[in-house]
Amino acid sequence: MAGLLTVVLAAGKGTRMKSALPKVLHRVGGKSMLQHVLDAANKAGSEKNIVVVGFGGQTVKEAIGSQAEFVVQEEQLGTGHAVMQAEQLLKEFDGTVMVLCGDTPLLQGDLIAKLYNEHKQAGAKATVLTAKMPDATGYGRIIRTANGAVRKIVEQKDASAEELLVDEVNSGIYCFECAALFESLAKLNCNNAQGEYYLTDVLEILGKENEKVWAVVADDYEQTLGINSRVQLAGAEHILRRRKTIELMDQGVTIMDPASTFVDMQVTVGKDTIIYPFTWLEGSTTIGESCEIGPNSRFMDTTIGNNVTAHFSYAHECVIADDVIMGPYVHLRPATKIAKGVKIGNFVEVKNSTVGEGSKLPHLSYIGDTDIGSGVNMGCGTITVNYDGKHKFRSTIEDDAFVGCNSNLVSPVTIGKGAYVGAGSTITKDVPPAALGIGRARQTNIEGWRDKRK
Ligand code: UD1
Ligand code: MG
Repeated sequence: MAGLLTVVLAAGKGTRMKSALPKVLHRVGGKSMLQHVLDAANKAGSEKNIVVVGFGGQTVKEAIGSQAEFVVQEEQLGTGHAVMQAEQLLKEFDGTVMVLCGDTPLLQGDLIAKLYNEHKQAGAKATVLTAKMPDATGYGRIIRTANGAVRKIVEQKDASAEELLVDEVNSGIYCFECAALFESLAKLNCNNAQGEYYLTDVLEILGKENEKVWAVVADDYEQTLGINSRVQLAGAEHILRRRKTIELMDQGVTIMDPASTFVDMQVTVGKDTIIYPFTWLEGSTTIGESCEIGPNSRFMDTTIGNNVTAHFSYAHECVIADDVIMGPYVHLRPATKIAKGVKIGNFVEVKNSTVGEGSKLPHLSYIGDTDIGSGVNMGCGTITVNYDGKHKFRSTIEDDAFVGCNSNLVSPVTIGKGAYVGAGSTITKDVPPAALGIGRARQTNIEGWRDKRK
């Protein structure tokens, strides 16, 4: 089988992260670093991905699941040794193996697609992606011959003073022809400053055997940055978010202050939507056209239709239809569905409930485990009493019902179609359609009470 497969190196501990979590699972731009790398590989046309895991391998496997196959590198003896672990899985393969590192979340599919295409066009056995770094410290340096061919890669710790002056560095990203890769890996030794099997030595071995070794220089070195510390993680976060807000603005979204707008990579926003400052759009959130979102709003895995206004609002795993007006200070919790034209605002919390078209929950309510029909008015301060301390119960409020202010609806209870609930009621029994339910003490006035008291 020919084609392109990817091996992602992710066995390192990431000591400088000072974390119990494997480095490649740290999240940036709303997904793990490793997920970014796998997404880029898939975009570039990789048919299968193999991840080399070591430290925290089980956790990495669980996070990535069926998106990759895994091989375990028990001891971290170097990048060459890491690739050797994938040999069994690549035995039958006679195409190109792309090697990526799990800690380069800024990498994009088009750059590695270019690497692969140039590798094929050049007919090379190995092609390395290089970059001119403003600060090359820590990277392997690309050492070229007088006529410009790649001769070898020298690690910082093994480099001579002269070699250290080279500003073209190894990104740690390569394409190899599979058979040539494993034949050369078998010839590696660990006679170097770190006592490791260096993958980089494969290029020198192939060059000495007069095989073609090629290099592609990335125009954008940023994409090849490896993340080793929390400070670098924050730097990557900044770059990813800048990329995302630019992408959205180019698609016709107004972002008033990109610096205070945090949008995860998978989020989509329709044109002519305006995003005000201090807004977080996370996970699989999608927002329609012509909405006004924020300021100070946070949406996680939430779907929002067109022409929605949401000020100072928070929603998690909810579906919000067109023309909804929400906020300020709304909290929508998972499994909540808000239909078209609903008005919901001013300190209202809704959980695991549906609200039908055109209904209003304007002030100070808690709605939990309730199905509200269309055209319903929930008065100020209305509470569904859905929890008896042990169990949760569901209530139904049918179309066009009118629930007076400061009512408690003790679930399970049904307020029938077009029924009314008197303000201040505690409703424990169903109210039939078109009826008036009142459950409160009758008011008594005692004439002249003040004077008698004296
Ligand atoms: C490596 C390159 C260097 C390059 C740099 C780019 C080598 C010898 N050096 O150096 O030329 O400029 O990347 O970032 O390859 N890993 C394993 N198992 C191991 C060792 C490493 O899986 O035994 C993984 C790490 O988890 C990481 C990647 O390989 O994802 C790179 O390893 P790292 O130790 O960071 O290599 P560098 O010293 O940065
Ligand atoms: Mg590194």
